Amino acid sequence: MSGNITFTMIKPMAMRNGAGGAILKMIQDGGFEIIALKMKQMSKSDAEEFYGIHKDKPFYENLVEFMTSGPIIAAVLKKDNAVEDYRKLLGSTNPETAEEGTIRRAFATNMTMNAAHGSDSDENAIIETKFHFKDDEIFN
Ligand code: CMP
Repeated sequence: MSGNITFTMIKPMAMRNGAGGAILKMIQDGGFEIIALKMKQMSKSDAEEFYGIHKDKPFYENLVEFMTSGPIIAAVLKKDNAVEDYRKLLGSTNPETAEEGTIRRAFATNMTMNAAHGSDSDENAIIETKFHFKDDEIFN
């Protein structure tokens, strides 16, 4: 499945704002097929592991606290060139510079509460997918 999947999480503030459905619609309208989907709340250890690459960054603790503050939607998306195309649909990490028509422009609150996560490489898309989904939860 390398190259044609990416992993996303709709983050707690977007969920609290009731934007989960609208974001899933933007994803489907963007040509992505949703091949796995679940609503869940991440534990502290889940979030620490998932964002482990950022553990030395000043925003890490705040990010872990926020990501465990309520339910998320986790999903696996399928499309040619999925990682790059989904990052375009998300818009830049900082919503103040996110382009018109992007998920973050429409639904982000700030850099931490930036509506949704998207994998940054094909390799991480697979690692992140396996982190959240068992093989029999993926309809590829
Ligand atoms: P995400 O795509 O989930 O991956 C890492 C997250 O770290 C990112 O979205 C942001 O929410 C957060 N992040 C990255 N850079 C910063 C920053 N400079 N300040 C606060 N949060 C950040």
